[in-house]
Amino acid sequence: MTRSDPVFYINAIPIYGDLILSPMAGYSDQPFRSLCRELGSAMSYTEFINAIEIVQNRRLSIRLEQRLAYLPEERPVVFQLFDNDPDRLLQAALKLQAYKPDIIDINMGCSVRRVSGRGAGAGLMRTPLKIARIFDTLNKSLEVPVTGKIRLGWDDECLNYRLIARIIEENGGSLIAIHGRTKAQGYGGEANWDAIAEVKDAVSIPVIGNGDVRTVEDIERLESHTRCDGVMIGRAAVGNPWIFSRIDRMQVPHVQVRSTMLDHLQRMLSFYGEERGLVLFRKHINRYLSPYPLTKEQRLKILTADHPHEFADLLDTQLAR
Ligand SMILES: Cc1cc2nc3c(=O)[nH]c(=O)nc-3n(C[C@H](O)[C@H](O)[C@H](O)COP(=O)(O)O)c2cc1C
Repeated sequence: MTRSDPVFYINAIPIYGDLILSPMAGYSDQPFRSLCRELGSAMSYTEFINAIEIVQNRRLSIRLEQRLAYLPEERPVVFQLFDNDPDRLLQAALKLQAYKPDIIDINMGCSVRRVSGRGAGAGLMRTPLKIARIFDTLNKSLEVPVTGKIRLGWDDECLNYRLIARIIEENGGSLIAIHGRTKAQGYGGEANWDAIAEVKDAVSIPVIGNGDVRTVEDIERLESHTRCDGVMIGRAAVGNPWIFSRIDRMQVPHVQVRSTMLDHLQRMLSFYGEERGLVLFRKHINRYLSPYPLTKEQRLKILTADHPHEFADLLDTQLAR
């Protein structure tokens, strides 16, 4: 689903849509991204990638290669990196240019302690000068645009999102995605959409708003509240990729749920192989099935199907209406 005119540009890259699947470790892999992209997500962010792993290994592991894999139809493709060291981020980004991403993104939002605790992810927001250096050097050294994904700040005492947004823009950053929570909030409380509106007012590069969008109505509310250029959707897209076609979960007919699940499963099997593909698909199954009034036993039966064809049969028998 594309529109005839670009909704916004990232430097010279036209973006033909306002909805984007969030980068989500463990979820936004090639199979799920390509499915969401087909249903209307306007570009593809990879799961975050540790710059240390890129720089330290001459040969990348299969897992890492899988994180970097994408389909041509997913373009524009964004590789998202995290680290606390500007030089290593630069080395990693230079090395990854060989994989031909359209954009490199710096993660400044991860709240997990092993990341933010060492000054990477949301930890970077405590060191604005380092952010300036990262964007300045990457912008001058890379052939592709550099973008950033931020939170509101470390905690309520350090709400420096406006400062960080301006630093990103002044040092050559081409887009800001902002999740309206602090690192201390994690995923608790409510996303602050007023703050997203402030960032949109503070910079002239495109701003993508993110946090707590669950329905089509939420998309329209976030857009009118913030006037942001696009909306990023994370958790609510899992089990509900139709949101990128602006269709709410409860509006999706059962036949379509079935065919999309089987399509998603097929993408997982082709990408990861039969065994791992089916195992990794289980976390999606649970979310796809959440609106169905299944008993615990019925749910477990579907979740523990050993073969893809058994899974398809169970979908038909257990969800028969
Ligand atoms: C399981 C999970 C993994 C995530 N991994 C990433 C990641 O790799 N990079 C990133 O920038 N954000 C990551 N996030 C944050 C999301 O991109 C998004 O900012 C957050 O979930 C808020 O949006 P939502 O309310 O639409 O879910 C992750 C979130 C979840 C729930």
